[in-house]
Amino acid sequence: MSSARDQDAALLGALFAADGQRVTRRKLATASGIPADELDARLVPYIEAGYPVEFHPQGGITLPEPPDIWCAEEIVGRCPAPARKNPTVPAWDPVLLAKTSSTNDVVREQARKGARSGLVVAASRQTKGRGRLGRAWESPADGGLYVSILLRPNLAMSDAGRLTILSSVAMADAVEAVADVRPQIKWPNDIMLDGRKLGGLLIETEPKGGRVGFAVVGIGINVRQEAHDFSAPLRKLATSLHLATGRLYRRADVLVALLQALARRLAAPFDDTREAWIAAGSLTLGQRVTLTTTRGLKHGQAVGLDESGALLLRDAAGEIEPITAGDMQAV
Ligand code: BTN
Repeated sequence: MSSARDQDAALLGALFAADGQRVTRRKLATASGIPADELDARLVPYIEAGYPVEFHPQGGITLPEPPDIWCAEEIVGRCPAPARKNPTVPAWDPVLLAKTSSTNDVVREQARKGARSGLVVAASRQTKGRGRLGRAWESPADGGLYVSILLRPNLAMSDAGRLTILSSVAMADAVEAVADVRPQIKWPNDIMLDGRKLGGLLIETEPKGGRVGFAVVGIGINVRQEAHDFSAPLRKLATSLHLATGRLYRRADVLVALLQALARRLAAPFDDTREAWIAAGSLTLGQRVTLTTTRGLKHGQAVGLDESGALLLRDAAGEIEPITAGDMQAV
């Protein structure tokens, strides 16, 4: 028997799936396992939270587009069940916080205590949001999606780069699903729109016997920010879905699309994802680049991506070297 939380999730999932259309109580009862005469009472807490549920006297319930609010039941209910049953795809377990230091830190701490793969921690605001290379990630209240996802993939550490590729493609997929624009991917971790940074990825892994013990996939996507929400130095470099499209999107919609995309990519052969990355990687592939790596500066042309997820760099002598991590400048 499913828990009350799972039933509520299924109820909200069925209402969202109807996309603002009226759904009969009988259909909602079947989808959720909640008796038809208890549906209204079960929806009260969500109405109080701001979901604009409408009850129709002649029968049926509708959920018009809600404002930019979220709850764990919405997220779970909107992630498709078949994907959740695939053994390589964890069941998402979302925890939504009003404020935290860094969602990556929260998830890492929980991972060390044994949390299961699929833990998803999102916050409306981060006070110490972190980017790559020790940079800060600006995380103003309700501006962007700030989320970290715990994965325990069955992966050798030498293939951990696949997670970067998979996650960045999932970010691009999610943005396209929600806003109908296809961002480009700039190696290794940037999602770009109109030449500006729309999102970033900070993956932190802990090894266990040569394999990935766990990975914290930290994702920031600028969703609702206005230009003045970015600090002056970032204003010319960053964009948000709102700035790029003129529309305000719900962060929950972006999170749901992201988890759905991640589930699809985790279930698919890595080669498919590699091809999708190559198609979105024109800011990287074919470019003459300088890479700052732990082994110093590397110059050459970015020519491909190998099956471990490493970027292939061809140097002036024609030698090809796989690069797993670094920072890239086009020259
Ligand atoms: C980058 O582009 O440098 C990576 C940015 C990653 C930001 C996200 S926001 C959610 C998660 N928590 C953090 O502190 N950082 C990541």
